[in-house]
Amino acid sequence: MIILKRFYFRPIFYHYRTNTTTTTTKTKLNTFNIEYDPIKQSIIYPQELNLNNKNYSTDSWTNVNENILSRIGLNLHQQKNHPLYHLTNRLRKYFYQFYDQKKLSPKFSIIDNLSPIVTTEQNFDSICIPINHVSRTKSMNYYINQNTLLRAHTSAHQVDLIRSGLNAFLCIGDVYRRDDIDPTHYPVFHQCEGVQLFTKEELFIGNKNVLGDKDNLEIFGPNEQRDATKQEGHTLEAVKLVEASLKKTITDLFKTLLPNTSILNSRWVDTTFPFTHPSWEYEIEIDGKWYELLGCGIMEHRVLENSGLNKDHIGWAFGLGLERIAMIMYGIPDIRLFWTNDSGFLSQFVFDDSTHSIQYKPISIYPQCINDLSMWMGKTKIDPSDFYDLVRAIGGDLIEQVILIDEFYNPKNQRYSQTYRIIYRSMDRTLTKNEINMIHKDIEYHCKQQFGVEIR
Ligand code: PHE
Repeated sequence: MIILKRFYFRPIFYHYRTNTTTTTTKTKLNTFNIEYDPIKQSIIYPQELNLNNKNYSTDSWTNVNENILSRIGLNLHQQKNHPLYHLTNRLRKYFYQFYDQKKLSPKFSIIDNLSPIVTTEQNFDSICIPINHVSRTKSMNYYINQNTLLRAHTSAHQVDLIRSGLNAFLCIGDVYRRDDIDPTHYPVFHQCEGVQLFTKEELFIGNKNVLGDKDNLEIFGPNEQRDATKQEGHTLEAVKLVEASLKKTITDLFKTLLPNTSILNSRWVDTTFPFTHPSWEYEIEIDGKWYELLGCGIMEHRVLENSGLNKDHIGWAFGLGLERIAMIMYGIPDIRLFWTNDSGFLSQFVFDDSTHSIQYKPISIYPQCINDLSMWMGKTKIDPSDFYDLVRAIGGDLIEQVILIDEFYNPKNQRYSQTYRIIYRSMDRTLTKNEINMIHKDIEYHCKQQFGVEIR
C-alpha cells in the first residue's frame, strides 16, 4: 500500500516556556491551565479548554499545548504587510481574473477566515481518509479531543464549502501538524486550497473547438473502470479536460507568482491522496534543487457525493503551502521568520502593492550551536514527535533543528537507545554557551521526567 506522505508539506515548532528546575510542585505552564505534573510525569489538561469562546472537553487524545493554541486567531495571512498577506493578495488577484459570465461575478470565491478548529469528520472522514490511515495518528496531529483537532490541511473544508453552494473557491488558513524540526518546517503553517467543479455543459461546451461534436460526450459512463488514469465511472475525455484545466491554472499561477526566479524546469509527479485520483505533485527546479509546491488531483467522486452532489459534476482540487512559496518568492531563508515581530524583518515588507517584488535581506547571520543528547529508554522507544514537542516546549524559537541521528536496540538489557542532535540558533542574536547549556540541561531534565529515560 502506498501511504501518502501524510500529506506533503511538513511543518514544525513549539514552545510553552516552563519555569523548570522545581521538582515537586506542579508547574503552571500557561494561560490555558495546562499543567505539568513532575510526579506523575505527565501533562495535565483541565477538563475543558476554552478556545474561541467555546468549551471543548479534553480526553486521552488531547495533545495540544499552549504554544500551539496561542497561534489560533493570529492569521498571519491577514496581517497587513506580512509576506503571507502579500502572497494571499496575489493569489486573490490571480483567481479574481476568472469571470463567470452567467453569474456576472468572479468565478472563484475566496474564503480566508474559517476557524482552524475542526472535527475529525471534516478533516478526515468527509474526504475519504480511511479510518486506519497514518495521517490520523496522535503523533501527526494536534488533537483537542478524540473528535476535535486543529485542521491538518485546508482540505478539511472542501465538503462544507461545496455544500454551501460554491463550485469554485479558494480556502486559505493556518494548518497544524506535528513533525520534524528544521529551517523549512514549523508546526503551524498556512495553506491555500483551490477547488473548481464542472458540469457537463461547462466542461464540453467550453472546449467545443478541441472536441468537435460535444453532444455525445459525458462525464460519466456506465462501464468505466478505475485505473491509473481515472476513477470508476469517469470517462477519460472528462478527466483529461479537467486535468488540463488544473495544470494550466497552476502553471500560469506560478508564472505570475515567480516571474523573476530562475525556474529552470517544472514537473508533475504522480502521487496518491485519499481524496483525489489521479493525483500529482507540482515541483519546480531552482538552482538545481527541486521544490515541491503543491499536491493536487481530480476530486474523488465520493467527496462530491459527501457534499450532496449527484453524478453531474467533476472537479479538481489542489492544496499549496504559502510559506514555502513566500520563501522562494522573497528569498526568506528560515520558516521561523514568518512568526517574528522583529522590525528588521517586517519593515522589509511594508508596501501597498502586493505584486511589488523584493528580495529579503538577512539582518545578520548568527552562529549555530550544536548539542547532542543520547539516552537509554525501555523496550518501547520514544516517538520522535513527542521528543520534538518537548524540545520546542522548552527551547522555543531558539531551536533551529532536531534530528534523530542514531537509534539502536540492545538485546542484552532489552533497551532502546536514541541520540538526537539539537541545533540551537537565534534569529536575532548570538547565543552564549551558558544560555544553551541551561536550556539543554532543562531538556534533559524534562526528558527524564516525561519519558523516564536515562541520559547517557
Ligand atoms: N491536503 C493535501 C495536503 O495537505 C493537499 C491536497 C489538496 C492534495 C487537494 C490534493 C488535493 O498535503
